[in-house]
Amino acid sequence: MEGIYKTLPQHTCTWLQGRVTLYKYQGFWNAQNFPKKAILAQSYEAQPRDVLLCSCPKTGTTWLKALAFAIVTRKKLDEVGNSPLLTTLPHDCVPFLENHLEKIKENHSNFPILGTHLPYSSLPKSVIDSNCKIVYIYRNIKDVIVSYYHYIRELMKLSVEEAPFEEAFDEFCQGISSFGPYWEHILEYWKASQERPEVFLFMKYEDLKKDPTGNVKRLAEFLGHPFSIEEEKAGMVENIIQLCSFDTLSNLEVNKSGKYQADEHFALEHRLFFRKATDGDWENYFTEEMKDKIDKLIDEKMSATGLILK
Ligand code: A3P
Repeated sequence: MEGIYKTLPQHTCTWLQGRVTLYKYQGFWNAQNFPKKAILAQSYEAQPRDVLLCSCPKTGTTWLKALAFAIVTRKKLDEVGNSPLLTTLPHDCVPFLENHLEKIKENHSNFPILGTHLPYSSLPKSVIDSNCKIVYIYRNIKDVIVSYYHYIRELMKLSVEEAPFEEAFDEFCQGISSFGPYWEHILEYWKASQERPEVFLFMKYEDLKKDPTGNVKRLAEFLGHPFSIEEEKAGMVENIIQLCSFDTLSNLEVNKSGKYQADEHFALEHRLFFRKATDGDWENYFTEEMKDKIDKLIDEKMSATGLILK
């Protein structure tokens, strides 16, 4: 299994000064150690009550995990002020299938919600066979590109001057990014959702921002934990939104200073999951030409879906 990546198409990212090489595995680009992680994740024996929170990186994964965790655990807590989210990174509350399979298996009976960036076609077969529910979050592609640019740049400890945004943009448009092509990732989930709509909930980062109350209620219903009238009257929905807000989470000590152990070789600072969380940051980076290029690309790829990524 170790050498599998040697047989795969590869791309060295020049905008990262050649420090990162991505490999195309099962149709999607990723780091060298990914095939091993995907194969392990595919051995997971899903149960029908499992719910998967699926996404491409930088689309709101951390936020979705925090919300799902807060919704599902709210009854066990006297008040949301006791939530583990105040002391634990959302990715440690809802682990990634491809990073922490052992931890998931250990805690499974207590909390059957998992996160994954795996493309739909790479999900464990048992997830499909067990008809597990899937929540898929996606985001405006332009803000995803900017978010991804800063995330990887900071991971590689490069300054903005050292990592040219234009080159990062071109690479992303070629489909070369972690778990990219971004549009293919979305398309696979979207197509599956057309075939089995009852097990899918599609959420959009921007919609969650615009109408958090409506979307958090929708998420809670889908997860099988709807809010009662009493809870709504008592302000539970607002409390959860507040707890999981960017302002709250990004200012917690654990999220400012901790380190996330993605696997035995790779750790990253928690703060990298929390940057600006604004809509439209892309306007500070894109030229008119870049905007036209990405709009055209997305029109070509996504027009049949009705999903708005621009
Ligand atoms: P920006 O880089 O645009 O700020 P992911 O969690 O999928 O890695 O996505 C990270 C993006 O979500 C980052 O976007 C990050 O700032 C933003 N984010 C993290 N926590 C958030 C929250 N609680 N609410 C809204 N956005 C959040």
